[in-house]
Amino acid sequence: MSIPFITAEEAASYINNGDNVGFSGFTASGTPKVVTVALAERAKKLHEEGKPFKINVFTGASTNDHVDGELARANAIGIRTPYQSHKDIRSAVNGDNVHYFDMHLSHLSQDLRYGFFGGIDVAIIEATEMSPNGEIILGAGLGMSPTLAKMAKKVIIEYSSYYHNSFRGFHDNYLPLDPPNRREIPIYKPNDRIGSTVLKIDPAKIIGVVPSNASESIKPFTAPDELTQRIGDNICHFLVDQLRKGLIPKEFLPIQSGVGNVANAVLYGLGENPEIPRFEMYTEVIQDAVMTLMEEGKCKFASTCALTFSDDAMLHFMENIEFFRDKVLMRPGEISNSPEIVRRLGLIAMNTALEADIFGNVNSTHVLGTKMMNGIGGSGDFARNAYLSIFSCPSIQKGGKISTIVPMVSHLDHSEHSVKILATEQGVADLRGKDPRQRAETIIENCVHPMYKELMWDYLKLASKTGGHTPHNLGAAFALHQALIEKGDMLQADFGKFA
Ligand code: COA
Repeated sequence: MSIPFITAEEAASYINNGDNVGFSGFTASGTPKVVTVALAERAKKLHEEGKPFKINVFTGASTNDHVDGELARANAIGIRTPYQSHKDIRSAVNGDNVHYFDMHLSHLSQDLRYGFFGGIDVAIIEATEMSPNGEIILGAGLGMSPTLAKMAKKVIIEYSSYYHNSFRGFHDNYLPLDPPNRREIPIYKPNDRIGSTVLKIDPAKIIGVVPSNASESIKPFTAPDELTQRIGDNICHFLVDQLRKGLIPKEFLPIQSGVGNVANAVLYGLGENPEIPRFEMYTEVIQDAVMTLMEEGKCKFASTCALTFSDDAMLHFMENIEFFRDKVLMRPGEISNSPEIVRRLGLIAMNTALEADIFGNVNSTHVLGTKMMNGIGGSGDFARNAYLSIFSCPSIQKGGKISTIVPMVSHLDHSEHSVKILATEQGVADLRGKDPRQRAETIIENCVHPMYKELMWDYLKLASKTGGHTPHNLGAAFALHQALIEKGDMLQADFGKFA
């Protein structure tokens, strides 16, 4: 059976208003780049004719401008899950124009298979190689493609000729059994391979193949600045101290690192520190820093869901692909983020907070408790189950008008029960084994910016009058947030009327 080449416009015409559409990839990597642009055009045209057109968008994680940007600008998204990080969809989400269901990344594939979202009408999957029997080699991100290949009623392949070397051998396509038949996922070391290098799709479901030559369009990360460097240094010193005390095994443990500039700074810090042994990673994305650490011999191996490299770094990867062949493995998001494996391997998980409270609760998603930033992503998959879960953030934002450490978080993503270590550029608070008052003292002492310390001690004193296990004054708990809303500066918070 031959599978026809079709145009992006033709492919888009198979997608109907209200369809559940699944996309390959994870971050921008491996995500479709051509059909979605045609789909946005189709939506705009239908809207001009007064016809409704919105699809429900299911992805591995965040995407690129070609998916979330194009479709959000065309007002073509109904439901969106599990994660986004693009400014245009963010404003649609906060403008109540998209039904955004923010969820743990490891949950989506299985929840789709359980039928919680209905079926998948169409899947758009990027392939870098393909055979007529429907065996494909995916691209730079695996995401939830195995689940999409199994569930989708129709499949559109975007055939990418951008990469001038083969990804064959870098993927570990695997589908766990579903309850009541689920068995353990047999990964006991980060480099254990359990699945197939190819993804098999029933050719009868493939509508056609759309050629593409687009890159992932990922910009390079900025080099660590003084602030991120200080946060990174604090975390590295803490980890070295734990090693010296024998609280981390001497061979070290696999690292999970979130995305962004702080994550990059921590990784560079680990790379430079002679006391940190050569390490492995079991994580959901690897960025440019990891490639450098591999070439320097500091990072031995990385299990990931995607290669989220900037375009230049990706070209470098491709040119030196043989060097990386036994050092990188891409897995589905439900495996890269599997709580079972995170717990078994004993990961050191490092993620970023928007704000944290003095008791160790973390808000990763909502500015002032209301405005969605990105989403919880994989942070909860890792934090809840890690050997050590570390959250970090700068102690202040917006020139000091915002303290990221507050009396009570305005939204909760990671509770005090999952957060073991909190780090800012000021220092590190070790929360293990401490009751709420002790946690508050260590966080105020070690993590709060000096300009906010007095305010925070005042809050703790005031809250302590109420008594109880976790001291709070419920009237004053959001006084800093309220001051920011009303006066533009958290420092203007006044606890006087609550005393
Ligand atoms: N209140 C209000 N605004 C805040 C804030 C707070 N407490 N903390 C940060 N901000 C603002 C910053 O000032 C900045 O604003 P700007 O864009 O106008 O400059 C913006 O939010 C981003 O802050 P920044 O410190 O640059 O964030 P980041 O790029 O390091 O990302 C998260 C931090 C929390 C948004 C990001 O890590 C995230 O989405 N995490 C959740 C998902 C996750 O952890 N994924 C990884 C799992 S593997």
